[in-house]
Amino acid sequence: MDGNGRWAESRGLPRAAGHRNGVEAARGIIRCAPDLGIGTLTLYAFSADNWQRPETEVRALMWLLREYLRTATPECVENGVRLRVIGRRDRLPITLMAGIEKAEEATAAGRKLQLRVAIDYAAREAIVRAARALAGESDITRERFAAALGAVTHGGGPAPDLDLLVRSGGERRLSDFLLWEAAYAELWFSDVLWPDFKPSHLAEAVRWYHHRERRFGRVPAATTRPAAGA
Ligand code: IPE
Ligand code: MG
Repeated sequence: MDGNGRWAESRGLPRAAGHRNGVEAARGIIRCAPDLGIGTLTLYAFSADNWQRPETEVRALMWLLREYLRTATPECVENGVRLRVIGRRDRLPITLMAGIEKAEEATAAGRKLQLRVAIDYAAREAIVRAARALAGESDITRERFAAALGAVTHGGGPAPDLDLLVRSGGERRLSDFLLWEAAYAELWFSDVLWPDFKPSHLAEAVRWYHHRERRFGRVPAATTRPAAGA
């Protein structure tokens, strides 16, 4: 979710106003996700590197996240949305930490949409934590690594593969988001600034996704011949 600051600045508003409108855009996207066939949606709300922003902006973001969790929880419960936060928690304000626990607990029965909000998240940090959890083991395979990453990041189960990664705001980079999980993700970059990002923009990305031929290293289906000896 990128472009909140530029959206505000272009209107002569403080950056926090961009973040406030960004939250509203996120609400719209969360509501439409199940209808677009999305079962798991991860929103990158605050990266570990975002701590380097001015203190006033960080404080505004922490307050907004807390408010979002508080106000969105009833709607999540009603719509079958299970909310989970990924990322470090030990550096967050105590009120936000408590808010996360409350929201996760209240929405635990949700089955329609797995909503993950990444707060103080960095993919390389998550990978290092998974590596640490496996330290000393002799047989480290991809499967075991994915299991360790799933345990430290996603609350259990193997780290899920990401199908489609959408970045708004015009930049063409991943910025330390779900690097392991995105190994075969289709990448969609939109120039729309996040506060202007509507369900129709996500629908466009999903339509594009459905036309991608996902080969995972194989040749196109039409040219498949049995391998020698098969
Ligand atoms: C939102 O957009 C991303 C967050 C960290 C909340 P930005 O705040 O990065 O907006 P720009 O890139 O300055 O426009
Ligand atoms: Mg940005």
